[in-house]
Amino acid sequence: MNLIRRPRRNRQSAVIRDMVQETHLSVNDFIFPLFVMEGQNIRSEVASMPGIYRYSLDLLLDEIGQCVDLGVRAFDLFPNLPEAKKDKYATESCNPDGLYLQTIRAVKDRFPDVVVMTDVAMDPYSSDGHDGVVENGKILNDPTLEVLGKMAVAQAQAGADIVGPSDMMDGRVGYVRQMLDVHGFQDVAIMSYSAKYASAFYGPFRDALDSAPKFGDKKTYQMNPANSREALIEAELDFAEGADYLMVKPALPYLDIIKLLSDNYELPIAAYNVSGEYAMIKAAAQNGWLDGQRAMAEALMSIKRAGASVILTYFAKEMAELLNDR
Ligand code: PBG
Repeated sequence: MNLIRRPRRNRQSAVIRDMVQETHLSVNDFIFPLFVMEGQNIRSEVASMPGIYRYSLDLLLDEIGQCVDLGVRAFDLFPNLPEAKKDKYATESCNPDGLYLQTIRAVKDRFPDVVVMTDVAMDPYSSDGHDGVVENGKILNDPTLEVLGKMAVAQAQAGADIVGPSDMMDGRVGYVRQMLDVHGFQDVAIMSYSAKYASAFYGPFRDALDSAPKFGDKKTYQMNPANSREALIEAELDFAEGADYLMVKPALPYLDIIKLLSDNYELPIAAYNVSGEYAMIKAAAQNGWLDGQRAMAEALMSIKRAGASVILTYFAKEMAELLNDR
């Protein structure tokens, strides 16, 4: 055959393949989401997320220490609260002696150099299990902003480096930015959950936090999975309102959205490889149906290739171990 172009020439050995590889994963790409709960000496596995635990603060600090040794230096914290501490206005989120703010302070105190990202949303503290203030079965937008603003300031006071509004209320990035600035936290960054879809893939996370909505669903605030142009509206608003990162969530079923935002915006693009995406690979691997490590590495690589420079993933520690072994 007289073939001028033979793409296989660039695949013929490991050295050549490595040389022409376009995308590289690094431990620097990851933010590791961690679940904290009350108590001491507790490490309770999330049934739907094998290998992922809710830690009491003492063991959470140990876990972070192990991750730091592997090169993972950014963490996103989420609290699991008993039902008795939840109410309509997520009051517990601003309790300086409450689990979450105490955890942020302890992590920053023990590991001053790690980046602590916090979650700005009502759901872990809400007796309604929603991300907003509920009245007559409706999720109210503007009253929710006030709660989110206070929450973000309380988290900044506790030492958060990046706050992550994950609620999808309109105007929340601008409101949170303004509240942070008024309180002197100009250097605290906002990673906005810009294109957050109403997804079935959050199921295991809601198990981890016992935070499933008590009625209805989140479709009046989270986006319709059928829409991509709408993601540009959300990104445009978040950019204009001062977001420092734009996030797409979930990641794998939304690689086109990651690509869309990375083609259209100069801000760093983050992607949240969510609980259900983790659970799918783990479940298949446990059944012997696929090679879990290779599937993990391929999935994370795809997210980066699509345009995400920051990946929030429950695989962060395991992938760091693999990268360190290579
Ligand atoms: C809610 C929030 C959710 C996740 C992060 N923040 C769930 C939801 O919107 O119900 C999901 C993360 C995951 O599934 O890993 N503020």
